[in-house]
Amino acid sequence: MVRTITLYGDPVLRRKCSPIDSVTDDIRQLADDMIETMRDAEGVGLAAPQVGVSLQLAVVDVSVEDESVTRVELDGKPVTLAAVSPLVFLNPELELTSERELRVEGCLSIPDVRAPVSRPASVIMRYTDLDGQPHTLAADGLLARAIQHETDHLNGILFLDRLTTAAKMSARRQLKRAMAEW
Ligand code: NI
Repeated sequence: MVRTITLYGDPVLRRKCSPIDSVTDDIRQLADDMIETMRDAEGVGLAAPQVGVSLQLAVVDVSVEDESVTRVELDGKPVTLAAVSPLVFLNPELELTSERELRVEGCLSIPDVRAPVSRPASVIMRYTDLDGQPHTLAADGLLARAIQHETDHLNGILFLDRLTTAAKMSARRQLKRAMAEW
C-alpha cells in the first residue's frame, strides 16, 4: 500500500527514531509499503519518519542510477548492486572515513528543492535486515549517499541542515516557493 509522505514542517521529521528490537509482521508490512511508496514517488530512498513512523527503518533503491556505484560489499564479499536492491535496513550505524564529494540532493519530503550536499564518498554500514540478521555493507557512489541521507532522517536530520551558507540561502528561496504550492 502506498502511504502518504510527510512534508517538511511535520515534527515527525525532526524526531530521533527509536531502534527496532524485534521484526514483527507490522514492521515487514511497513517495509513493503515504504518500497511501494518510494517507487510510486520515483525516489531512490525513503525513511520511516517520511511515512509518519518514528522507527529506525529505511529503504534504498539506486539501481536506476547504478553507474555511480563501483563498490558494494556485503559481509566482506563483493556483490552486485541488484543483489542488495531494494535495500531494507534497520538500526543503521555508519562508519564514515572517506573523503568528501559534492552532489546535488533532493528529498521526497521537501519536493522541488534541490541543493549540493558534501558527504563522504563511501560508507560502511552495520545494520539489521528484515530477518533480524546483522550485516555489514560497504558502498560508494549514490548508494553511499542515499544510505547517509536516509540514516540522517532516522536522526531527525534533513539534507538542508548539511548545506553551506550560500547553498542554504538558495535552498530557502526554493523552499519558500515550493511550500506556497504544497
Ligand atoms: Ni529525504
